[in-house]
Amino acid sequence: MKILVIGGGGREHAIAWRLSKDGGHEIYCAPGNAGTADIATNVPIGAEDIDDLVAWSQLARPDLVVVGPEAPLCLGVADRISALGIPVFGPSKEAARMEGSKSFSKEVMEAAGVPTAHAERHVKADEAIAALDRFTLPVVIKADGLAAGKGVIIAKTRAEAEDAIRSILDERQFGEAGASLLVETFLEGEEASILALVSGEGRIALLPPAQDHKRVFDNDEGPNTGGMGAYSPAPVVTDEVLDFAMERIFKPVVAELAKRGIEYRGVLYGGLMIGPAGINVLEFNCRFGDPETEAILPRIGGDFASLLLSCAKGELDPASLVILPQPCATVVMAAPGYPGKYPKGLPISGLDAAGAMADVTVFHAGTADKDGQTVTSGGRVLCVTALGSDLRDAVDKAYSGIRAISFEGAHYRKDIARRAFNR
Ligand code: AMP
Ligand code: GLY
Repeated sequence: MKILVIGGGGREHAIAWRLSKDGGHEIYCAPGNAGTADIATNVPIGAEDIDDLVAWSQLARPDLVVVGPEAPLCLGVADRISALGIPVFGPSKEAARMEGSKSFSKEVMEAAGVPTAHAERHVKADEAIAALDRFTLPVVIKADGLAAGKGVIIAKTRAEAEDAIRSILDERQFGEAGASLLVETFLEGEEASILALVSGEGRIALLPPAQDHKRVFDNDEGPNTGGMGAYSPAPVVTDEVLDFAMERIFKPVVAELAKRGIEYRGVLYGGLMIGPAGINVLEFNCRFGDPETEAILPRIGGDFASLLLSCAKGELDPASLVILPQPCATVVMAAPGYPGKYPKGLPISGLDAAGAMADVTVFHAGTADKDGQTVTSGGRVLCVTALGSDLRDAVDKAYSGIRAISFEGAHYRKDIARRAFNR
């Protein structure tokens, strides 16, 4: 198959890599990175340059387009390319509102009876501040729209909550993504990511569950990041949790969307909180998670392109999903300073040595090629991934891979999968 993968991070490298494992495909990545360049042809079009992506697809006529990030989906890239008669793995603009609009997603969950934190939507700061009287601390304040993962504030004090509300609604800290916000009940517990392949009603397959590590430092300290590592499976997600997710979360949500005339096709990612209040949905994403994908896709067997194509066409047979038993772990190597300001262009060494280790794969997240030398070009630089006979083995192998690689000021968490080992 001729396949276009849209995006240029670790998730897209993992998608392209998994497609390449099928053998025989012609893979393109827009824009890709130094890692995808080894297994695919990079196309110099940005993931949000919708007109150019459509024009390229019209000329090149790929058999399948796989969309990585949420932004192009929310801009309607799937609608535009599908209209050319090309199957797209990724939801329509309407369906992508499950991630693009937190109030829409909340409304769908409420209508479908899906357990989720109670929330109120507000557009005026004084009304949102008055609403705080109806919530206890800590309280969660969320910009309604896409804010590059920065739109959620967990306020421990009333003053912090008021500041967050004013900066979102009055100062438009997140631009139009903050034209409205949710004031939401804080939930305690352990987070887990359950991603489902969805191909309309009755066609839902749960991918192996994973757990992400959002804080930059060990023991979940320091500021939030895009994710510093992940592993799959996550022991907190028992078979009972998976059953619950299918019956009480994914089936009702997909049915509720269908009732509104929206057929969901692609990944629906449920961010769950499992704790004293039971199993609740914190949020939905309309795409593969990053870095969860780097720990999930190595565990998928069978022909991956056929799986995604059937899903894109609304023909997914959930029984065709093959999950391999070996656990997988991925550890992010980040640039000095990340998630704050960081330099770019640092030369990276040891990539070949790490990649040659048994069961180790190095996914590039933020890299570029500079005169034949791979250099850093982002905050999250590499996702060093390994399959193992058990989770401990997978984690150990991933860290062996990390130790073989170096660039100035590289940092990474040393406790990936800690929660699983602590059980
Ligand atoms: P999001 O940007 O929507 O992925 O949310 C970011 C993070 O905020 C989540 O992964 C949780 O750690 C946290 N979060 C969101 N909503 C809640 C909530 N209602 N209670 C506790 N934590 C939350
Ligand atoms: N790993 C979190 C996300 O992809 O949103």
